[in-house]
Amino acid sequence: MGKCPSCGTWESLIEEIESKATKRRSERANGSNGANGVGSVEKLSDVIADHARRIHTGMPELDRVLGGGIVPGSVVLVGGDPGMGKSTLTLQVSTAVGSEERPSLYVTGEESLHQIKQRADRLGLNSSTINGVAETNIERIADIISGTDPSIVIIDSVQTMTTDMLESTAGSVAQVRECTALITRIAKSKGIPVILIGHVTKDGAIAGPKVLEHMVDAVLQFEGEGVYSYRILRAIKNRYGSTNEIGVFDMSATGLKEVTNPSEVLLSNRRSGEPGTAVVAVMEGTRPLLVEAQALVSNSGYAVPQRVSTGYDSKRLQMVLAVLEKRCGLAVRNCDVFVNVAGGIAIQDPAIDLGIAVAIASSVNETPIPESVSFVGELGLTGEIRRVGYLDQRISEATRLGFGRIYIPRAEQAPSQKNVTVAERLITVLNSLFTMRHDG
Ligand SMILES: Nc1ncnc2c1ncn2[C@@H]1O[C@H](COP(=O)(O)OP(=O)(O)O)[C@@H](O)[C@H]1O
Ligand SMILES: [Mg+2]
Repeated sequence: MGKCPSCGTWESLIEEIESKATKRRSERANGSNGANGVGSVEKLSDVIADHARRIHTGMPELDRVLGGGIVPGSVVLVGGDPGMGKSTLTLQVSTAVGSEERPSLYVTGEESLHQIKQRADRLGLNSSTINGVAETNIERIADIISGTDPSIVIIDSVQTMTTDMLESTAGSVAQVRECTALITRIAKSKGIPVILIGHVTKDGAIAGPKVLEHMVDAVLQFEGEGVYSYRILRAIKNRYGSTNEIGVFDMSATGLKEVTNPSEVLLSNRRSGEPGTAVVAVMEGTRPLLVEAQALVSNSGYAVPQRVSTGYDSKRLQMVLAVLEKRCGLAVRNCDVFVNVAGGIAIQDPAIDLGIAVAIASSVNETPIPESVSFVGELGLTGEIRRVGYLDQRISEATRLGFGRIYIPRAEQAPSQKNVTVAERLITVLNSLFTMRHDG
């Protein structure tokens, strides 16, 4: 059929031929559960919880994103655009986790073993702790895992894997789902951690069925801008830790290096004395991060002015513009407004609002914000600056990087630091920074 009788879309049907499947499937299920007995019932109090056992990846940044290291038997999906460094990261992890006695297993369906070795040599990795195999048949991989008992398994990538149970092509929804299901069962029953590499589609979602993200224990997403060498690893889902954590890495010729001072890196390209920029202390997970909000406001040549936002929610930008216009008398109605968070990090923390508003006002007024001033605060519709969490950490980070004045919302407990200015309304902040150019 060309058209789906259920939802009416064309060419969305995929053939799934289940060959000799039912038998094999039940065999595997029994085999893999053997250790614990098939679905044996146990009192939860008798089940030994291995809280302490986390496998360290040799990279504290990655460990933190994972919630303290890899949990044995967990399946982690790493997604990201091509060239982000998924293969590099997992190769580094597999050499760190593997040992001479119990090597890791690197399964490659995309590159040859030769290429993997070349990469390992370039990265200066000790490749004696890692076994490689170029294989795409998931049943054979399952047998290899059973036979070699690796310390960790890397599958690069899950879209290249196929199972004998289906005859559809590699990368199809059914194949990806079945391969992941099989590998998940093996990981859980043997307590071997598995890292799956997944492709990312044009719109940024991990290719394959959404169910893939449900099946695995953690989903990590690699983000980065082509022109920058640093990469951000973000936990989108994590059954063993917080999902707000990010790890920052720098991609160099010798592999991914951890960036322990991301604020400094993010602000390193900053040029002081330019109108339209403001430094904001945002939180990414449990870590404060200083980022630069940039704005450019210019008279529009269009009937409908443009509003373009990168790294900041465009609906919030509309809101900020309305507040600036209505509550602060800033004429932006007929202007094109471009907003950007420098460094290519998408910021979800609403505490960036104040900085965005100030950057826009700075551009309108053609007046730079003094170099040593930074901002924290969420904007409300009445132009009030609302409270945000983790105020102390934000102030400390800004202070550490030499900011002498930080505008903050009113807090229940006044912070101990001296270099803060409590601001209740946006208009007060703007008035203290600029001689405002009001519209007629
Ligand atoms: N010879 C090299 N020297 C320096 N960097 C390299 C070299 N080859 C590849 N890279 C870097 O490694 C990245 C590719 O990493 P890789 O782990 O293969 O990405 P992915 O698996 O996500 O597609 C490239 O973007 C590039 O920055
Ligand atoms: Mg790769």
